[in-house]
Amino acid sequence: MKDKTDISNRKADHIALALQQKHQAQHGSGFDRLRFEPNPLPQLALDDIDHSSQFLNQPVAAPFLIGAMTGGCENGEMINRHLAEAAQACQIPMALGSQRAALEQGTAQNARHWAPSVILLGNLGATQLQQQGLDLAKRAVDSVEANALIIHLNPLQELVQPNGDRDWNLVLEAIQNTAAQLEVPVIVKEVGAGIGPGTAKRLMDAGISWIEVAGRGGTSWASIELDRNDSEREREIAAPFIDWGMDTVELLPAVHAACPTLGLIGSGGVRHGLDIARCIRLGAQMTALAQPFLAPALESTEAVVEKISILQQQLRWAMFLTGSQNLHDLRGAAIA
Ligand SMILES: Cc1cc2nc3c(=O)[nH]c(=O)nc-3n(C[C@H](O)[C@H](O)[C@H](O)COP(=O)(O)O)c2cc1C
Repeated sequence: MKDKTDISNRKADHIALALQQKHQAQHGSGFDRLRFEPNPLPQLALDDIDHSSQFLNQPVAAPFLIGAMTGGCENGEMINRHLAEAAQACQIPMALGSQRAALEQGTAQNARHWAPSVILLGNLGATQLQQQGLDLAKRAVDSVEANALIIHLNPLQELVQPNGDRDWNLVLEAIQNTAAQLEVPVIVKEVGAGIGPGTAKRLMDAGISWIEVAGRGGTSWASIELDRNDSEREREIAAPFIDWGMDTVELLPAVHAACPTLGLIGSGGVRHGLDIARCIRLGAQMTALAQPFLAPALESTEAVVEKISILQQQLRWAMFLTGSQNLHDLRGAAIA
């Protein structure tokens, strides 16, 4: 087990570094390459637009969720409280950050208390599942009455991180076993390098029905971990991999074409409501944003509510400007 202060210091570093622009993908997200054909005759009133959706068989106000961000450090509790209260006020699902530290240290997890009636997604790393199995997964779900459990795949981050997990044998088997035995759905995500069609197919064969793409284009975990690593040798080894992965905007259509029945959450570099519309157009049912919620979450619940409201309004504008009254229409909107 890793030392408590080790984990808390690492999480505090992550939050401080994730706020810095230099740890966002340097080449941009590529989302701007995808242009909708403008429809200057929308034949709709802005108020006619309906962006409500369904996720995990429940209604949601809009097709996006608050992406997974770690607790487990000094201000983690406050961040989670602001995110969860805003999720509840806006009826937007929320993904929790890794629950590993809380479960190992036995600290309280209050997200369900703050967000009694929204979809909450639990979170564990794939290597924790491989090491500690189904029991840990059950505890993660039960501790917050999660509606689904997200398992994150982060092999590059583990390589760059000093003392990261290097043994990824039997991870797929652990995921398969968890998906077969857990009472809630298991969603598998990356953390910013992306899940492509090959991995998506293997996950589907292992019984997974939802993936969160988490492609390249937003927060770069290699860049963040490299910033924390003082070893010259390790920095030199990691340098070529700083830009590793595939862009979300490329991955979504590729995974959707290869696995049309797989539920897809578009994420990694989604920065505003127009990007949300682009993900939906490319085959995602849902989208997730992590880093854009970090600064508001450090401020207040009201700041997170305001961010959600702006994202919804931007999505509404994108729908209006493509003449899409609902998400079904948006999926068929013309692109250049
Ligand atoms: C501060 C911070 C902490 C994160 N912690 C986790 C985590 O504990 N578990 C996880 O699956 N992803 C975690 N992520 C990754 C995000 O969920 C997301 O996949 C990634 O940041 C790319 O999305 P973005 O470009 O919208 O930030 C974290 C992201 C941030 C910014």
